[in-house]
Amino acid sequence: MSRVYNFSAGPAALPEEVLKKAAEELPEYRDTGMSVMEMSHRSAEFIEIFNETESLLREIMNIPENYKVLFLQGGASSQFAMVPMNLFNKSKKCDLIHTGNWTKKAISEAKRYGRVNIVASSEDRNFSYIPELDKSKFDSEADYFYICTNNTIYGTRYRELPHTGDVPLVADMSSNILSEPVDLNRFGIIFAGAQKNIGPAGLTIVIIRDDLIGNAMDITPTMFNYKTHADNNSMFNTPPTYCIYIAKLVFEMIKKKGGLAEIEKINSYKAELLYDHLDNSKMFKSTVEKKYRSLMNIPFITGSDELDAKFIKEAAQEGLVTLKGHRSVGGMRASIYNAMPVEGVQKLIEFMKTFEKENS
Ligand SMILES: Cc1ncc(COP(=O)(O)O)c(C=O)c1O
Repeated sequence: MSRVYNFSAGPAALPEEVLKKAAEELPEYRDTGMSVMEMSHRSAEFIEIFNETESLLREIMNIPENYKVLFLQGGASSQFAMVPMNLFNKSKKCDLIHTGNWTKKAISEAKRYGRVNIVASSEDRNFSYIPELDKSKFDSEADYFYICTNNTIYGTRYRELPHTGDVPLVADMSSNILSEPVDLNRFGIIFAGAQKNIGPAGLTIVIIRDDLIGNAMDITPTMFNYKTHADNNSMFNTPPTYCIYIAKLVFEMIKKKGGLAEIEKINSYKAELLYDHLDNSKMFKSTVEKKYRSLMNIPFITGSDELDAKFIKEAAQEGLVTLKGHRSVGGMRASIYNAMPVEGVQKLIEFMKTFEKENS
């Protein structure tokens, strides 16, 4: 069995060269006589891996000195609670733009600890766009302003970030981190689960500006306090060591390819190929307004549940797998993260053409 083109939204495909390198080093890492999985997180060998991982990420994302990088567990979902617990320390209010299931979850967690002002929402058209913002609705006293930069389920993304003044901007970047360069200075916190563009599930990366650390609510459990992890260099407890090692291999590969500016070019090219095809097809269509289309997650439909099911089944027989859309949108979703090669997208388009010919 050869490797398929896996369009999963996450855990998602990893670069083949990373998997091969990991396989090579799996039983014995360099001359340590053991696997990275078996190493103490406090050993000199692992600390070296850890430090290299952080410095590579700092380099490729151009992370300013006054930001900490935390390597945590608990998934991006834990951040829905950690953010309010750590940042609700003045007005206990936050502003939020509601763009889908993941902001819905962030809203319900934040509401446990303070007030959530929904500045704008795209729920009226099933989250198929990013809403325009009315600045008069921003609360200058908010402790933070929350967005999800790429909506994995609905396939939308921000083209412009909101200008929030002194209110720290917090972003869930789980599904578009490392897909293009970002100006970290615009953010107070960004966080991401690893299982799309970073590595295996189990690692959560938080990049946080120094001044936002150390003012958590009293009720905050030790493990949910950013200060715990910042003070202990993410080693308060055992970090997800093997996931960190794989992330290092992924970061090395990004650097080798020329960094995020180059990665963005490839991602834009892949997405354009697929959107162009969708816009020209009579059978398949995109569910997202043009201006807000994601480079990473591309939902599409035929309009017939039967035809969608047939397409997904026959595509899988061609080695194009995990194309079923999320139940909130239906149809198909092609997640084309960094690890999806151009050839995978081309093969999908060729198959769509054949399928359309045979079924219309
Ligand atoms: C944008 C976004 N936020 C949060 C999550 C939840 O991540 P986790 O499963 O790591 O908690 C996901 C998962 O797919 C996601 O796509």
